[in-house]
Amino acid sequence: MKSYQNMVIPKLLGVLLVLEMISGIRFGADGLSMGYYIMSCPFAEQIVRNTVTRALQADPTLAAGLIRMHFHDCFIEGCDGSVLLDSTKDNTAEKDSPANLSLRGFEVIDDAKKKLEQQCPGVVSCADILAMAAKEAVFLAGGPVYMIPNGRKDGTRSRIEDTMNLPAPTLNASELIKMFGQHGFTAREMVALSGAHTVGVARCSSFKNRLSDSVDNLDSIFAKQLSNTCSAGDNAEQPFDSTRNTFDNAYYNGLQKKTGVLTSDQTLFASASTRGIVNGYAFNQAMFFIDFQQAMVKMSMLDPKEGSKGEVRGNCRKIN
Ligand code: HEM
Repeated sequence: MKSYQNMVIPKLLGVLLVLEMISGIRFGADGLSMGYYIMSCPFAEQIVRNTVTRALQADPTLAAGLIRMHFHDCFIEGCDGSVLLDSTKDNTAEKDSPANLSLRGFEVIDDAKKKLEQQCPGVVSCADILAMAAKEAVFLAGGPVYMIPNGRKDGTRSRIEDTMNLPAPTLNASELIKMFGQHGFTAREMVALSGAHTVGVARCSSFKNRLSDSVDNLDSIFAKQLSNTCSAGDNAEQPFDSTRNTFDNAYYNGLQKKTGVLTSDQTLFASASTRGIVNGYAFNQAMFFIDFQQAMVKMSMLDPKEGSKGEVRGNCRKIN
């Protein structure tokens, strides 16, 4: 009997080879590759897609949670699923850091992992599941489609102190440029990645500095809106832009109107070094989408220090 795999796999491999030539991303080497699960778990991507689709149908706000979680994973020791690990009695994990307490969507990753373990036990890493889930979340919220290579391994280190390397919401443009530069990103890529704030919310504790900061660049009516939100307490939520569940360029339009929520958002328009990029994305959503997808692929490939020495966890919350 002609199997689905016999017919489809050679064709896919041909397509991947062409993609390799145009994208420069290697396949089948010791690192990441485009068709990584094509033999070992051909429906991995489909399983993650279905899981994320169902989760977002029930709660569209989870798209933001998944995208942010992937960012927080990759910026600490590379994309190694370290953000997914639970604390143990001997170790306080990244997820229990104040910077991560509002991360959301862990149960979506657990759900996808459970299904993948049934289909192909011990094959698909949690870091890959998170990278794929974030990609689906971007697309399902209305953003660009992009392809990411897979083959990340799950790390065994997750320490609260490492999260000091996450950007604080009070940073200014030159500090952000420097911090993202340390991970190999240009200023333009940093501005594009910040566009992820086109979805989701920030809590009052993340922006209340702006209410007393007289040098901040904040629209006066919007300032009243922010203080109104904060009157409900530190955990009260403020959407980043006017379309909180839709991936579009409204975030950049908001920055032009001085209605960015975080200091680190508004600084991108306030600073002459990044204002032109903000204006470009506000004017041209297609350009934002192209730059965002390229920067996300790059972010998804940030190398764990442990390299290929990591493992494929059976449960994303615990090391094996
Ligand atoms: C440029 C530096 C960045 C800073 C300073 C920053 C900071 C923050 C802060 C403080 C929040 C709100 C957390 C809370 O109050 O609960 C937040 C939310 C969020 N961030 Fe960032 N972020 C940055 C870049 C990014 C990047 C690169 C991505 C993804 C590619 C991202 C994705 C998100 C998303 C989607 C949310 C909303 C989460 C939700 O609604 O659950 N952020 N960010």
